[in-house]
Amino acid sequence: MRQFIRQNRLAGKSIGLVPTMGFLHQGHISLVEASKKENDITVVSIFVNPTQFAPNEDFSRYPRDFDRDAALLLEAGADVIFTPEAGDVYVKNAQTFISVEDLSKIAEGEFRPTHFRGVATIVAILFNLVQPDKAYFGQKDAQQTVVLRRMVKDLHMPIEMVVCPIVREADGLAMSSRNIYLTPSQRKDALVLSRSLKLAQDLISNGTRDAKEVIHQMKLLYNGLQECNLDYIRIVDADTFMEASAIELEGCYFIIIACKFGTTRLIDNCFISMPNGPIFQ
Ligand code: PAF
Repeated sequence: MRQFIRQNRLAGKSIGLVPTMGFLHQGHISLVEASKKENDITVVSIFVNPTQFAPNEDFSRYPRDFDRDAALLLEAGADVIFTPEAGDVYVKNAQTFISVEDLSKIAEGEFRPTHFRGVATIVAILFNLVQPDKAYFGQKDAQQTVVLRRMVKDLHMPIEMVVCPIVREADGLAMSSRNIYLTPSQRKDALVLSRSLKLAQDLISNGTRDAKEVIHQMKLLYNGLQECNLDYIRIVDADTFMEASAIELEGCYFIIIACKFGTTRLIDNCFISMPNGPIFQ
């Protein structure tokens, strides 16, 4: 990888990196397409990163299908697929980890306390191995993008973070490798995520400014769904991920949701940019 990057850099080529855990869907492909537009070489990494899964999570059963991924990437025009083994990426008895302190403890971090440490560490390692000019992430993992932006800023990494919009199925379900776990009835119930986000957007455009009220109205849609267990719905500042009590005209927010359908945990979000808010993203 290093040699390949060195040769291409010497030839003046720009490098885009799309880090993934494989089992690709159209959301990942949209990142590859964005990278191809903006860089000479697009590298896609596929690595199911053990350190971002807690012991009770789905690391061992996380879906993997390299041949399918490779075919999709070939069709999308990726230049390089980088599929390191855990032993290549993590030095034996490694002692160095990256922790983006406060941002990793709130929201998703309350439910997955070690998750963002694992994400930040693997992404920093991938950045060091591939040395991209730009790296591409989906807005679906909104907090991940905020954590990683902070890491890039704090550590002066010479990399531009590019965040691409959520890609949804025709009926609104955000694309995710984990959707494959859903039973047909859970798949139907899971539409509540995008429906409740749409409701929140409508309430806010019609003038509701109280965050609690928006969340209350959203939660009503989850009542009576048999297999659905809501972890949280929050309205957070888009930069700090701190909970907002009111939606200010100068603000930018994410409405974030995490919800379990049986043993499958899905997340979804929407970005709310108020008329006088900063130009963000
Ligand atoms: O978003 C993902 O798929 C993963 O968290 C990432 C960024 C590839 C790190 O393992």
